[in-house]
Amino acid sequence: MLDIVGAAPFAADSPEQIFDVLADALVERGYAVVNDFFTPEVTAALRAEFDHPDCHFKTAGIGRQEEHAIALDIRGDRICWLEGGSAAAATFLAAMEQLRLALNRRLFMGLFDYESHLAYYPVGTFYKKHVDAFKGDSNRVLSTVLYLNPSWSAGDGGELVLYDEATDEVIEQLSPKAGRLVVFLSERFPHQVLPAKRKRYSVAGWYRINSNTMDRVDPPT
Ligand code: OGA
Ligand code: MN
Repeated sequence: MLDIVGAAPFAADSPEQIFDVLADALVERGYAVVNDFFTPEVTAALRAEFDHPDCHFKTAGIGRQEEHAIALDIRGDRICWLEGGSAAAATFLAAMEQLRLALNRRLFMGLFDYESHLAYYPVGTFYKKHVDAFKGDSNRVLSTVLYLNPSWSAGDGGELVLYDEATDEVIEQLSPKAGRLVVFLSERFPHQVLPAKRKRYSVAGWYRINSNTMDRVDPPT
């Protein structure tokens, strides 16, 4: 077992510099790609979470609440929500909390909290083009994906494809290689996961703003 408790989670000597680069990219382009965001130990510990007996993966669905349905023709990943009960999950969530505060400080985004799940794509599965949040209709404002796949090669598929919302042109095609973090504005980028030819492991997450009103609690608890 790799010991990650008490060690710095970020690969960079000065994470504040990485947060600067990330924030600048979000302002300029609406998305950011950071390779080697976490130390290899943290990335490996997160990958090991998938084998943890406490994690009961379920087939992911589409839509919220009553609209929720399993649709394997749209997405085939299996997910497990992160609660922070293990050292790896707690380390990850604490680091993403640091990133939340860093982005709020730099960009005044008002990010309120963060939800995330482990995602496993069995061979042959994909996630068709979608947006994580419709404009003004969700409290998810910033999407994150951290990849956990060592030695992913070009023929292994499973790339994340980001599209320009206006022109529908491909902006980026990103392989899910271990340690890579992708962050993008949830309402702005249609994206898809191409069919994986190997088992594909990641952590997907969303920073949310607080959109509670007097008569509506969002998200419902
Ligand atoms: C998602 C998603 C992208 C990826 O879970 O909503 O789009 O690369 N994931 O795993
Ligand atoms: Mn998505």
